[in-house]
Amino acid sequence: MPKLPRILVYSLLVAGCLALIPPVVFARMRATPSPNRPIHIFWDMDFQPKFKTQVANPLFADGRAMRAPVQGTAGRGEAYADAHLYEGVVDGQWATALPAAVTMDAETLERGQQRFNIYCSACHGYAGFGDGAVNQRAMELVSNATGPVNGTQWVAAKSLHDETTRNQPVGQLFNTITHGIRNMAGYGAQISTEDRWAIAAYVKALQLSQDAGAAN
Ligand code: HEC
Repeated sequence: MPKLPRILVYSLLVAGCLALIPPVVFARMRATPSPNRPIHIFWDMDFQPKFKTQVANPLFADGRAMRAPVQGTAGRGEAYADAHLYEGVVDGQWATALPAAVTMDAETLERGQQRFNIYCSACHGYAGFGDGAVNQRAMELVSNATGPVNGTQWVAAKSLHDETTRNQPVGQLFNTITHGIRNMAGYGAQISTEDRWAIAAYVKALQLSQDAGAAN
């Protein structure tokens, strides 16, 4: 085989190395966050003039782009006028019965049990005595012989059979589930209104079953 001229071999080597640079630069650019807009070849309708949140808009007298809802109006599907259903309150008192939209039957209680087991039992325990797995583990960490592990702090989940909680009206339980109480977070954003009522009804059922005296 005839020997290739040296100059050709070296030129090919150099060209080969140089050819690697553009792909590396591209890969690097794709992987590095940049404040600049990416190169956008087809614009279509991707960038349209608009007002973003918290900016000024000279069109309105108050100069704000964000508009407050018109007074006395409610968005579609956002009228929370039924205080019983949405706040657990009837005539300024905690409701003692379920709202009209939720019927007290086996199906509701089963749904409540299932949701309770998912959302509440981790802390309050399946029967509501405040002995859920998370609570037990936290208590272990807090009461370690050499002090709380990693500075763990924990407020024990309350037993739902405590004197103070046992006699609460179902509307008050609904309110606690919705907004939380003291150290407990609220579940209004995660659990639908109907399901919160189902859980409240189930908690009442738990209380009735666990706290039944010999006479009942
Ligand atoms: C992450 C743990 C945790 C979860 C999950 C949790 N709770 Fe609690 N709950 C607590 C703690 C802690 C307290 C006591 C708060 C305090 O006293 O500061 C409490 C208190 C309560 C009380 C007593 C309210 C009162 O008036 O004293 C009720 C009722 C209650 N929870 C119901 C529920 C229900 C129903 C769920 C499920 C939707 C739930 N909790 C989920 C931790 C939890």
